[in-house]
Amino acid sequence: MKVSDILLNDGYKIPAVGLGTYQIRGGEGYHQILAAISDGYRSIDSATNYDNEGIVGKAIRDSGIPRSQFFISSKLPGKYHRYDDALSAIKESLARMGLEYFDLFLIHWPLPKRGLYVEAWKALITAQKLGLIKSIGVSNFEPEHLDKIITETGVTPAVNQIEIHPYWINDNRIQENLKRGILTEAWSPLGRGSDALKEPIIQKLAEKYDKNVGQIILRWHLDRGVVPLPKSTNLEHQRANLNIFDFSLTNDEIQAINALNRENGRIDGQDPNEYEEFE
Ligand code: A2P
Repeated sequence: MKVSDILLNDGYKIPAVGLGTYQIRGGEGYHQILAAISDGYRSIDSATNYDNEGIVGKAIRDSGIPRSQFFISSKLPGKYHRYDDALSAIKESLARMGLEYFDLFLIHWPLPKRGLYVEAWKALITAQKLGLIKSIGVSNFEPEHLDKIITETGVTPAVNQIEIHPYWINDNRIQENLKRGILTEAWSPLGRGSDALKEPIIQKLAEKYDKNVGQIILRWHLDRGVVPLPKSTNLEHQRANLNIFDFSLTNDEIQAINALNRENGRIDGQDPNEYEEFE
């Protein structure tokens, strides 16, 4: 199944679905990533804090598929927000992956209480100029954090990766990203396998479109202009999660899923203004 591409604000293209890799580690993880690549995944979303950059890079190299066909992302941990630390951390990430460049590199969390994310952003801009990264972006940034980095550097992120799933639809932040020309990526797009997958409306749509519940939720993301990064260790699910380009939801169906939103719907209650990243 061919995955469509989406144009970013810097002229590069990103596949419309990518593989999430949180908690995919070690030998078993290596084989899962290799299987996903052979199923057609080319976009793989890693992070230094996932402790899996080594196996992601190894799976890419061992796949025999040219590097140029991949879209590889990683993320800067909070302890390296200072400019010099951030630049070294990017180089270390590349060395762990065994790659010459990242297609996308994000600041993992803004950590506004520490107040160093503008420095980190400046380091990403430098790394981009050095050819270490093609597209630069952020994750879990609130509109005020976006405005601060844009105002202080004149450089708008290409991507903001945030939590989105049927219990946390995050409409406002998607709109705020859009206003600034920033593409939204969704982490935990299936709600990390929560009850969302069992919701009657989603099961009804799965029957209507002859798809599984995961595919309905992923299509809901695409139809809202969001790039989902689903994670699955089940080969059948991995394959199904790419097979979402032959149907689309009506506006009413999108609204019906939006109605599942909950006021406290975050999976782990991670408020980007409060969340202090694990070190
Ligand atoms: P599994 O690994 O058995 O496929 P998220 O991407 O939001 O973190 O969610 C990941 C969870 O969703 C995992 O528990 C995964 O289980 C499950 N999952 C992934 N794809 C599907 C699918 N197509 N249908 C049902 N569950 C899925």
